[in-house]
Amino acid sequence: MNEPVIAQTSPFAVQVEADKTYWWCACGKSANQPFCDGSHKASGFTPLKHTPAEAGTAYFCGCKRSANPPLCDGSHRKLIGPQPPGAV
Ligand code: FES
Ligand code: FES
Repeated sequence: MNEPVIAQTSPFAVQVEADKTYWWCACGKSANQPFCDGSHKASGFTPLKHTPAEAGTAYFCGCKRSANPPLCDGSHRKLIGPQPPGAV
C-alpha cells in the first residue's frame, strides 16, 4: 500500500457531538479534511469510523501517520522537526 498523503502537518480541531458517526479520511486525499469525501477510491485506503462517547473538541490527525487514528498522537512532530516549547 502507498503512503497516505499528508493533508497537513498538524491536527484538525473539530467540535464533535456525542454518539455521532464521523468518517476520518485515512488516505489524505479528501477535499473535506479531516473527513472522507470518497477520494480514496482505488488508493487502497478506507475511511476510519469514529463515534465519540462525549461531545467536545476532537483533534483529528491531519498528517495521517498517527499510531492512534483517527486522533492525533503527536506523530506529526517527526515530519516537521524540532518545534519551540509550547508548539502543538
Ligand atoms: Fe481519504 Fe476517503 S477520501 S479515506
Ligand atoms: Fe497526525 Fe498529529 S496530525 S499525529
